[in-house]
Amino acid sequence: MATSIRPVMRPLVDPDFWRCRAVLVTGHTGFKGAWLALWLQAMGARVTGLSDRVPTTPSLYELAHVADGMKDDIRADVRDHDAVLAAFAAAEPEVVVHMAAQAFVRRSFADPHATYETNVMGTVNVLEAVRATPSVRVVVNVTSDKCYDNHHAREPLPFAEDDPKGGHDPYSNSKACADLVADAYLRSYFERYEAGPRLASARAGNVIGGGDWGEDRLIPDVMRGALNGVPIAIRNPEAVRPWQHVLNPLSGYLRLAQALHGSPAAQGGWNFGPALADARPVRAIADRMSDLWDGALEWEIDPGVHPHEARFLALDSSKARDGLGWGPSWTLDDALAAIAAWYAALRDGEDLRAVTLAQIAAFEAAGARA
Ligand SMILES: NC(=O)c1ccc[n+]([C@@H]2O[C@H](COP(=O)([O-])OP(=O)(O)OC[C@H]3O[C@@H](n4cnc5c(N)ncnc54)[C@H](O)[C@@H]3O)[C@@H](O)[C@H]2O)c1
Repeated sequence: MATSIRPVMRPLVDPDFWRCRAVLVTGHTGFKGAWLALWLQAMGARVTGLSDRVPTTPSLYELAHVADGMKDDIRADVRDHDAVLAAFAAAEPEVVVHMAAQAFVRRSFADPHATYETNVMGTVNVLEAVRATPSVRVVVNVTSDKCYDNHHAREPLPFAEDDPKGGHDPYSNSKACADLVADAYLRSYFERYEAGPRLASARAGNVIGGGDWGEDRLIPDVMRGALNGVPIAIRNPEAVRPWQHVLNPLSGYLRLAQALHGSPAAQGGWNFGPALADARPVRAIADRMSDLWDGALEWEIDPGVHPHEARFLALDSSKARDGLGWGPSWTLDDALAAIAAWYAALRDGEDLRAVTLAQIAAFEAAGARA
Protein backbone atom coordinates (compact mmCIF):
# COMPACT_ATOMS: atom_id res chain seq x y z
CA MET A 1 0.00 0.00 0.00
CA ALA A 2 1.26 3.48 -0.85
CA THR A 3 2.68 5.29 2.11
CA SER A 4 2.98 8.71 0.55
CA ILE A 5 -0.13 10.41 1.83
CA ARG A 6 0.25 14.10 0.96
CA PRO A 7 2.93 16.75 1.36
CA VAL A 8 3.86 17.22 4.99
CA MET A 9 1.86 20.01 6.53
CA ARG A 10 3.00 21.94 9.59
CA PRO A 11 1.94 21.81 12.25
CA LEU A 12 2.07 18.04 12.40
CA VAL A 13 -1.03 18.04 14.59
CA ASP A 14 -3.42 20.53 13.04
CA PRO A 15 -5.70 22.24 15.59
CA ASP A 16 -7.99 23.39 12.77
CA PHE A 17 -8.62 19.76 11.87
CA TRP A 18 -9.64 18.89 15.44
CA ARG A 19 -11.70 21.96 16.32
CA CYS A 20 -15.34 20.91 16.96
CA ARG A 21 -14.68 17.39 15.64
CA ALA A 22 -16.49 14.55 17.47
CA VAL A 23 -13.85 12.17 18.82
CA LEU A 24 -14.37 9.03 20.88
CA VAL A 25 -11.38 7.91 22.95
CA THR A 26 -11.54 4.52 24.65
CA GLY A 27 -9.29 4.22 27.67
CA HIS A 28 -9.49 7.99 28.27
CA THR A 29 -9.08 7.64 32.05
CA GLY A 30 -5.72 5.88 31.68
CA PHE A 31 -2.26 7.41 31.40
CA LYS A 32 -2.12 7.86 27.62
CA GLY A 33 -5.86 8.46 27.32
CA ALA A 34 -5.86 11.34 29.81
CA TRP A 35 -3.02 13.10 27.96
CA LEU A 36 -4.82 12.57 24.64
CA ALA A 37 -8.20 13.74 25.94
CA LEU A 38 -6.61 16.87 27.36
CA TRP A 39 -4.78 17.64 24.12
CA LEU A 40 -7.97 17.17 22.10
CA GLN A 41 -9.86 19.40 24.53
CA ALA A 42 -7.18 22.07 24.15
CA MET A 43 -7.75 22.01 20.37
CA GLY A 44 -11.51 22.38 20.79
CA ALA A 45 -12.55 18.83 19.86
CA ARG A 46 -15.80 17.42 21.27
CA VAL A 47 -14.39 14.46 23.19
CA THR A 48 -16.36 11.48 24.45
CA GLY A 49 -14.52 8.96 26.62
CA LEU A 50 -15.31 5.31 27.17
CA SER A 51 -13.56 3.49 30.02
CA ASP A 52 -14.56 0.99 32.65
CA ARG A 53 -13.16 3.08 35.52
CA VAL A 54 -10.38 5.38 36.58
CA PRO A 55 -7.66 2.75 36.84
CA THR A 56 -5.34 4.25 39.47
CA THR A 57 -5.38 6.52 42.49
CA PRO A 58 -3.95 9.05 42.04
CA SER A 59 -4.40 9.50 38.29
CA LEU A 60 -3.63 12.15 35.71
CA TYR A 61 -7.31 11.97 34.79
CA GLU A 62 -8.40 13.22 38.21
CA LEU A 63 -5.44 15.46 39.05
CA ALA A 64 -5.74 17.38 35.76
CA HIS A 65 -9.58 17.45 35.95
CA VAL A 66 -9.81 15.91 32.50
CA ALA A 67 -13.51 15.09 33.10
CA ASP A 68 -14.29 18.82 33.17
CA GLY A 69 -13.61 19.18 29.44
CA MET A 70 -15.30 16.00 28.22
CA LYS A 71 -18.46 16.16 26.14
CA ASP A 72 -19.40 12.85 27.70
CA ASP A 73 -17.59 10.56 30.15
CA ILE A 74 -18.97 7.05 29.70
CA ARG A 75 -18.27 4.14 32.06
CA ALA A 76 -18.53 0.92 30.06
CA ASP A 77 -16.57 -2.30 29.69
CA VAL A 78 -15.22 -2.95 26.19
CA ARG A 79 -15.97 -6.63 26.80
CA ASP A 80 -19.67 -5.72 26.86
CA HIS A 81 -20.73 -5.65 23.20
CA ASP A 82 -24.10 -3.96 23.81
CA ALA A 83 -22.64 -1.29 26.07
CA VAL A 84 -19.97 -0.39 23.49
CA LEU A 85 -22.61 -0.23 20.76
CA ALA A 86 -24.79 2.05 22.88
CA ALA A 87 -21.86 4.35 23.68
CA PHE A 88 -21.01 4.72 19.98
CA ALA A 89 -24.66 5.36 19.09
CA ALA A 90 -24.87 8.10 21.72
CA ALA A 91 -21.54 9.75 20.85
CA GLU A 92 -21.82 9.57 17.03
CA PRO A 93 -18.04 10.08 16.69
CA GLU A 94 -16.27 10.90 13.46
CA VAL A 95 -12.87 9.81 14.80
CA VAL A 96 -12.24 6.88 17.17
CA VAL A 97 -8.98 6.26 19.02
CA HIS A 98 -9.15 2.85 20.66
CA MET A 99 -6.77 2.59 23.60
CA ALA A 100 -8.76 0.77 26.31
CA ALA A 101 -6.78 -2.30 27.27
CA GLN A 102 -5.36 -4.42 30.03
CA ALA A 103 -1.94 -2.84 29.52
CA PHE A 104 0.34 -4.71 31.94
CA VAL A 105 2.58 -7.69 31.18
CA ARG A 106 2.75 -8.95 34.76
CA ARG A 107 -1.03 -8.78 35.21
CA SER A 108 -1.41 -10.70 31.95
CA PHE A 109 0.55 -13.60 33.43
CA ALA A 110 -1.78 -13.60 36.45
CA ASP A 111 -4.98 -13.28 34.41
CA PRO A 112 -4.50 -14.18 30.74
CA HIS A 113 -8.22 -14.79 30.25
CA ALA A 114 -9.26 -11.24 31.19
CA THR A 115 -6.31 -9.86 29.21
CA TYR A 116 -7.36 -11.63 26.01
CA GLU A 117 -11.03 -10.80 26.60
CA THR A 118 -10.30 -7.10 27.05
CA ASN A 119 -7.61 -6.66 24.43
CA VAL A 120 -8.90 -8.96 21.71
CA MET A 121 -12.70 -9.20 22.12
CA GLY A 122 -12.70 -5.59 23.31
CA THR A 123 -11.16 -4.63 19.97
CA VAL A 124 -13.69 -6.80 18.11
CA ASN A 125 -16.52 -5.06 20.00
CA VAL A 126 -15.14 -1.62 19.19
CA LEU A 127 -14.79 -2.50 15.49
CA GLU A 128 -18.31 -3.97 15.45
CA ALA A 129 -19.55 -0.69 16.92
CA VAL A 130 -17.62 1.17 14.21
CA ARG A 131 -19.43 -0.89 11.57
CA ALA A 132 -22.77 -0.07 13.16
CA THR A 133 -22.14 3.68 13.54
CA PRO A 134 -22.38 5.55 10.23
CA SER A 135 -20.77 8.75 11.60
CA VAL A 136 -17.35 7.06 12.02
CA ARG A 137 -14.82 7.97 9.33
CA VAL A 138 -11.49 7.27 10.98
CA VAL A 139 -10.28 4.66 13.50
CA VAL A 140 -6.84 4.52 15.10
CA ASN A 141 -6.34 1.20 16.86
CA VAL A 142 -3.57 1.49 19.44
CA THR A 143 -1.61 -1.73 19.84
CA SER A 144 2.04 -1.92 20.91
CA ASP A 145 5.67 -2.32 19.91
CA LYS A 146 5.30 -5.67 21.71
CA CYS A 147 2.98 -6.95 18.95
CA TYR A 148 5.97 -8.17 16.90
CA ASP A 149 7.30 -11.71 17.04
CA ASN A 150 10.24 -11.33 19.35
CA HIS A 151 11.15 -14.99 19.71
CA HIS A 152 14.33 -14.78 17.75
CA ALA A 153 17.54 -13.10 18.74
CA ARG A 154 17.33 -10.47 16.02
CA GLU A 155 19.04 -7.70 17.87
CA PRO A 156 19.96 -5.06 17.11
CA LEU A 157 17.41 -4.92 14.27
CA PRO A 158 14.40 -2.71 14.94
CA PHE A 159 10.97 -4.02 13.94
CA ALA A 160 9.37 -2.77 10.72
CA GLU A 161 5.62 -2.77 10.05
CA ASP A 162 5.58 -5.90 7.90
CA ASP A 163 7.52 -8.05 10.36
CA PRO A 164 5.55 -11.05 11.66
CA LYS A 165 3.28 -10.50 14.66
CA GLY A 166 3.78 -12.63 17.74
CA GLY A 167 4.33 -11.93 21.39
CA HIS A 168 5.84 -14.14 24.07
CA ASP A 169 3.64 -13.27 27.04
CA PRO A 170 -0.17 -13.01 27.12
CA TYR A 171 -0.14 -9.18 27.05
CA SER A 172 2.19 -8.88 24.04
CA ASN A 173 0.40 -11.73 22.32
CA SER A 174 -3.02 -10.17 22.93
CA LYS A 175 -1.81 -6.92 21.35
CA ALA A 176 -0.53 -8.90 18.36
CA CYS A 177 -3.99 -10.49 18.14
CA ALA A 178 -5.66 -7.06 18.38
CA ASP A 179 -3.46 -5.89 15.51
CA LEU A 180 -4.44 -8.94 13.45
CA VAL A 181 -8.12 -8.41 14.26
CA ALA A 182 -7.86 -4.86 12.89
CA ASP A 183 -6.11 -6.19 9.81
CA ALA A 184 -8.96 -8.65 9.18
CA TYR A 185 -11.61 -5.93 9.63
CA LEU A 186 -9.68 -3.66 7.29
CA ARG A 187 -9.46 -6.28 4.57
CA SER A 188 -12.92 -7.78 5.08
CA TYR A 189 -15.00 -4.65 5.56
CA PHE A 190 -13.37 -1.25 5.48
CA GLU A 191 -10.84 -1.42 2.64
CA ARG A 192 -13.53 -2.22 0.09
CA TYR A 193 -15.60 0.91 0.55
CA GLU A 194 -14.19 4.24 -0.50
CA ALA A 195 -16.71 6.06 1.71
CA GLY A 196 -16.47 3.65 4.66
CA PRO A 197 -14.48 4.04 7.85
CA ARG A 198 -10.70 4.04 7.48
CA LEU A 199 -8.64 2.03 9.92
CA ALA A 200 -5.00 1.94 10.97
CA SER A 201 -3.12 0.30 13.83
CA ALA A 202 -0.52 2.35 15.69
CA ARG A 203 2.39 0.63 17.40
CA ALA A 204 4.48 2.40 20.00
CA GLY A 205 5.95 1.42 23.30
CA ASN A 206 7.65 2.28 26.52
CA VAL A 207 5.81 5.50 26.76
CA ILE A 208 6.76 7.76 29.63
CA GLY A 209 5.48 11.04 31.01
CA GLY A 210 4.11 12.86 34.01
CA GLY A 211 1.00 11.45 35.61
CA ASP A 212 1.65 7.74 35.17
CA TRP A 213 0.90 5.52 38.18
CA GLY A 214 0.84 2.21 36.33
CA GLU A 215 2.13 -0.81 38.22
CA ASP A 216 5.53 -2.31 37.37
CA ARG A 217 6.50 0.61 35.15
CA LEU A 218 9.86 2.26 35.51
CA ILE A 219 8.92 5.96 35.72
CA PRO A 220 6.00 5.49 38.14
CA ASP A 221 8.23 3.31 40.34
CA VAL A 222 11.08 5.82 40.21
CA MET A 223 8.86 8.83 40.92
CA ARG A 224 6.96 7.08 43.72
CA GLY A 225 10.36 6.46 45.32
CA ALA A 226 11.41 10.07 44.77
CA LEU A 227 8.18 11.50 46.23
CA ASN A 228 8.31 9.16 49.24
CA GLY A 229 12.06 9.57 49.73
CA VAL A 230 12.75 5.82 49.64
CA PRO A 231 15.20 3.88 47.41
CA ILE A 232 13.47 1.90 44.68
CA ALA A 233 14.18 -1.60 43.41
CA ILE A 234 14.67 -1.90 39.65
CA ARG A 235 14.17 -5.04 37.60
CA ASN A 236 16.21 -5.81 34.49
CA PRO A 237 18.49 -2.73 34.58
CA GLU A 238 20.22 -3.74 31.34
CA ALA A 239 16.99 -4.17 29.32
CA VAL A 240 16.98 -1.74 26.38
CA ARG A 241 13.68 -0.03 25.57
CA PRO A 242 12.59 2.57 23.00
CA TRP A 243 11.65 5.20 25.60
CA GLN A 244 9.68 8.19 24.47
CA HIS A 245 7.49 10.87 25.95
CA VAL A 246 3.80 10.07 25.68
CA LEU A 247 3.23 13.16 23.52
CA ASN A 248 5.49 11.74 20.78
CA PRO A 249 3.28 8.74 19.89
CA LEU A 250 0.11 10.74 20.60
CA SER A 251 1.23 13.27 17.99
CA GLY A 252 1.68 10.28 15.66
CA TYR A 253 -1.84 8.97 16.39
CA LEU A 254 -3.35 12.41 15.76
CA ARG A 255 -1.32 12.94 12.58
CA LEU A 256 -2.32 9.44 11.43
CA ALA A 257 -6.01 10.23 12.02
CA GLN A 258 -5.65 13.40 9.95
CA ALA A 259 -3.97 11.41 7.17
CA LEU A 260 -6.65 8.69 7.26
CA HIS A 261 -9.31 11.35 6.95
CA GLY A 262 -7.57 12.65 3.85
CA SER A 263 -6.72 9.37 2.14
CA PRO A 264 -7.33 5.61 2.36
CA ALA A 265 -3.62 5.13 1.60
CA ALA A 266 -2.92 5.72 5.30
CA GLN A 267 -4.68 2.50 6.29
CA GLY A 268 -2.62 -0.36 7.76
CA GLY A 269 0.09 -0.51 10.42
CA TRP A 270 2.36 2.30 11.60
CA ASN A 271 5.28 2.37 14.01
CA PHE A 272 5.86 5.43 16.17
CA GLY A 273 9.18 4.97 17.93
CA PRO A 274 11.91 7.27 19.18
CA ALA A 275 15.26 7.84 17.53
CA LEU A 276 17.36 4.69 17.85
CA ALA A 277 19.78 6.59 20.09
CA ASP A 278 16.91 6.92 22.58
CA ALA A 279 16.57 3.14 22.91
CA ARG A 280 18.45 3.04 26.21
CA PRO A 281 18.87 0.63 29.11
CA VAL A 282 16.64 0.94 32.18
CA ARG A 283 19.73 1.78 34.24
CA ALA A 284 20.46 4.92 32.15
CA ILE A 285 16.91 6.24 32.67
CA ALA A 286 17.05 5.73 36.43
CA ASP A 287 20.43 7.46 36.62
CA ARG A 288 19.27 10.44 34.56
CA MET A 289 16.10 10.88 36.64
CA SER A 290 18.26 10.82 39.72
CA ASP A 291 20.32 13.70 38.23
CA LEU A 292 17.23 15.70 37.28
CA TRP A 293 15.27 15.33 40.53
CA ASP A 294 15.99 18.09 43.03
CA GLY A 295 15.83 15.72 45.98
CA ALA A 296 16.98 12.25 46.96
CA LEU A 297 16.37 9.58 44.33
CA GLU A 298 18.19 6.30 44.81
CA TRP A 299 17.77 2.94 43.19
CA GLU A 300 19.03 -0.61 43.62
CA ILE A 301 18.76 -3.82 41.60
CA ASP A 302 15.76 -6.01 42.42
CA PRO A 303 17.28 -9.53 42.52
CA GLY A 304 13.84 -11.28 42.37
CA VAL A 305 12.67 -13.61 39.63
CA HIS A 306 10.78 -11.63 36.99
CA PRO A 307 8.53 -12.61 34.10
CA HIS A 308 10.13 -12.97 30.68
CA GLU A 309 10.83 -9.67 28.96
CA ALA A 310 12.59 -9.09 25.69
CA ARG A 311 16.09 -7.78 26.28
CA PHE A 312 16.04 -5.55 23.23
CA LEU A 313 13.08 -3.90 21.57
CA ALA A 314 13.21 -1.08 19.05
CA LEU A 315 11.02 0.18 16.24
CA ASP A 316 11.85 1.27 12.72
CA SER A 317 9.65 4.36 12.24
CA SER A 318 10.85 5.32 8.77
CA LYS A 319 7.38 4.64 7.31
CA ALA A 320 5.84 7.29 9.61
CA ARG A 321 8.72 9.66 8.89
CA ASP A 322 8.42 9.32 5.11
CA GLY A 323 4.66 8.81 4.84
CA LEU A 324 3.32 11.11 7.53
CA GLY A 325 6.19 13.51 8.06
CA TRP A 326 6.14 12.36 11.68
CA GLY A 327 9.11 12.42 13.99
CA PRO A 328 9.53 12.65 17.73
CA SER A 329 9.31 16.33 18.70
CA TRP A 330 10.94 15.62 22.08
CA THR A 331 14.12 13.62 22.61
CA LEU A 332 14.50 11.27 25.53
CA ASP A 333 16.33 13.95 27.47
CA ASP A 334 13.51 16.46 26.80
CA ALA A 335 11.09 13.81 28.03
CA LEU A 336 12.97 13.11 31.25
CA ALA A 337 13.25 16.83 32.02
CA ALA A 338 9.48 17.26 31.46
CA ILE A 339 8.75 14.29 33.71
CA ALA A 340 10.91 15.61 36.55
CA ALA A 341 9.19 19.01 36.22
CA TRP A 342 5.72 17.41 36.22
CA TYR A 343 6.29 15.41 39.41
CA ALA A 344 7.96 18.41 41.07
CA ALA A 345 4.79 20.39 40.27
CA LEU A 346 2.74 17.63 41.89
CA ARG A 347 4.96 17.70 44.96
CA ASP A 348 4.66 21.49 45.14
CA GLY A 349 0.86 21.49 44.90
CA GLU A 350 0.66 23.29 41.53
CA ASP A 351 -2.38 23.28 39.22
CA LEU A 352 -1.73 20.08 37.27
CA ARG A 353 -4.23 20.79 34.52
CA ALA A 354 -2.34 24.01 33.77
CA VAL A 355 1.04 22.25 34.07
CA THR A 356 -0.01 19.43 31.73
CA LEU A 357 -1.51 21.84 29.18
CA ALA A 358 1.69 23.93 29.32
CA GLN A 359 3.75 20.80 28.55
CA ILE A 360 1.46 20.05 25.58
CA ALA A 361 1.95 23.64 24.34
CA ALA A 362 5.74 23.35 24.77
CA PHE A 363 5.71 20.07 22.85
CA GLU A 364 3.73 21.65 20.01
CA ALA A 365 6.18 24.55 19.89
CA ALA A 366 9.11 22.11 19.70
CA GLY A 367 7.35 20.28 16.84
CA ALA A 368 6.79 23.52 14.95
CA ARG A 369 10.53 24.28 15.18
CA ALA A 370 11.57 20.79 14.04
N1 LIG B 1 2.06 2.86 28.46
C1 LIG B 1 2.83 2.23 27.57
O1 LIG B 1 4.04 2.23 27.67
C2 LIG B 1 2.21 1.52 26.40
C3 LIG B 1 3.06 0.90 25.49
C4 LIG B 1 2.52 0.26 24.38
C5 LIG B 1 1.16 0.24 24.19
N2 LIG B 1 0.33 0.82 25.10
C6 LIG B 1 -1.09 0.75 24.84
O2 LIG B 1 -1.65 2.06 24.94
C7 LIG B 1 -2.97 1.97 25.49
C8 LIG B 1 -3.08 2.84 26.72
O3 LIG B 1 -2.12 2.42 27.68
P1 LIG B 1 -1.96 3.16 29.08
O4 LIG B 1 -0.54 3.10 29.43
O5 LIG B 1 -2.64 4.45 29.05
O6 LIG B 1 -2.76 2.14 30.03
P2 LIG B 1 -3.61 2.43 31.35
O7 LIG B 1 -3.69 1.15 32.10
O8 LIG B 1 -3.10 3.64 32.04
O9 LIG B 1 -5.06 2.78 30.79
C9 LIG B 1 -5.90 1.78 30.28
C10 LIG B 1 -7.26 2.37 30.01
O10 LIG B 1 -8.12 1.34 29.52
C11 LIG B 1 -9.28 1.26 30.33
N3 LIG B 1 -9.71 -0.12 30.40
C12 LIG B 1 -9.02 -1.21 30.83
N4 LIG B 1 -9.80 -2.31 30.74
C13 LIG B 1 -11.00 -1.90 30.24
C14 LIG B 1 -12.21 -2.55 29.92
N5 LIG B 1 -12.35 -3.86 30.09
N6 LIG B 1 -13.23 -1.81 29.42
C15 LIG B 1 -13.11 -0.48 29.25
N7 LIG B 1 -11.98 0.20 29.54
C16 LIG B 1 -10.94 -0.51 30.02
C17 LIG B 1 -8.82 1.78 31.70
O11 LIG B 1 -9.94 2.20 32.49
C18 LIG B 1 -7.95 2.94 31.26
O12 LIG B 1 -8.75 4.04 30.90
C19 LIG B 1 -3.23 0.49 25.72
O13 LIG B 1 -3.89 -0.04 24.60
C20 LIG B 1 -1.84 -0.09 25.84
O14 LIG B 1 -1.81 -1.47 25.52
C21 LIG B 1 0.83 1.45 26.20
